[in-house]
Amino acid sequence: MTTFRVAGKLLAISDLHVAYPENRQFIEELRPESDADWLIVAGDVGEVVADVEWALALLRSRFSTVIWVPGNHELWTPKKDPVRLTGERRYQHLVEICRRLGVLTPEDPYPVWEGAGGPVTVAPLFLLYDYTFRPAGTSSKEEALAVAHRTGVVCADEYLLVPDPYPSADAWSRARVEHTRERLAACDPKLPTVLVNHFPLVRDPTYVLRYPEFAQWCGTENTADWHRRFRAAAVVYGHLHIPRTTWYDGVRFEEVSIGYPREWRRWNGPRNIPRQILPEPERHD
Ligand SMILES: [Fe+2]
Ligand SMILES: [Fe+2]
Repeated sequence: MTTFRVAGKLLAISDLHVAYPENRQFIEELRPESDADWLIVAGDVGEVVADVEWALALLRSRFSTVIWVPGNHELWTPKKDPVRLTGERRYQHLVEICRRLGVLTPEDPYPVWEGAGGPVTVAPLFLLYDYTFRPAGTSSKEEALAVAHRTGVVCADEYLLVPDPYPSADAWSRARVEHTRERLAACDPKLPTVLVNHFPLVRDPTYVLRYPEFAQWCGTENTADWHRRFRAAAVVYGHLHIPRTTWYDGVRFEEVSIGYPREWRRWNGPRNIPRQILPEPERHD
C-alpha cells in the first residue's frame, strides 16, 4: 500500500488593504493548496477594525494556521471607524479579536513549523519604526522629519497613528524591540527561525524606494543584525509594496505585499502571492 504524506507549505502575504474591492475579491478567492498549509499575514490588512476581522476570519476558515502581525494601517484610528481606540489599546483589541478567531499574534508563544523545511520557529514580531532610517545628511529624528515636510513626503501615520500611552512611535518601537529581543533570545537555539515583521528588519530594501524620505517610517536600525543573531532561515515583511526576494548575509528576505490595485495592475495581478516561505523554493538565478 502506498501512503501519501500531505506536504504542507508555509505561505505568506501582506498589505491586503481590503478597503479596495479588488483586493477584497483577491482575498475571497485565496485558498490553500492543502489542509496542511499555514498562512502568515504580515500586516496592513486594513484600517477599519471590522475589515481586519472580516479578512482574518475568512482566512482562518480556510488555512489550518493563520499568523498575523500588525501593520501601521491597523494602528490608525480613521474617522470612518466606529472603533475609536488608539495606540496600544487598539493593538490589544486586535489581539483579542485574533484570539477569538484562533489567529496567532506576536502576543502568543511562537509556533514551530514542523512541515517540509522544518522544524523552524515562526516568530511574528511587532517592532514598528523609529525614524533611524534617516535621509542622507540628517542625524536626528527632528532633522529627518524636517526633510520629509520640506519635500512633502510625509507618511499618513503622522496624522492617523496615535501611539499612546507612548509619547511617540519611536518610543513604542524601542519598547517593542527590547521586549521582543528577550523573547527571541529565549527560543530553542537548535531551531532556525522565520522572522515576520511588517517592516523590513534591515534598511537595504528601502534603498529602492521612489521617495527615500519615506524610509524613516520603514523600520529601525535596532534590528540590523537580528536575521543573523536569531538564525533566520527567512525574513518575511511587507509595507514597501515592492514585492520581491532579496538576500542579505545569505538570508532570504521576502517582501510579500499585495499593495494597492493601482500598483499591482502593472503586473496584471498581485505578484507571486501568496509567497512560499517553506519549504525553500528552488532558486532560478
Ligand atoms: Fe501597505
Ligand atoms: Fe504598511
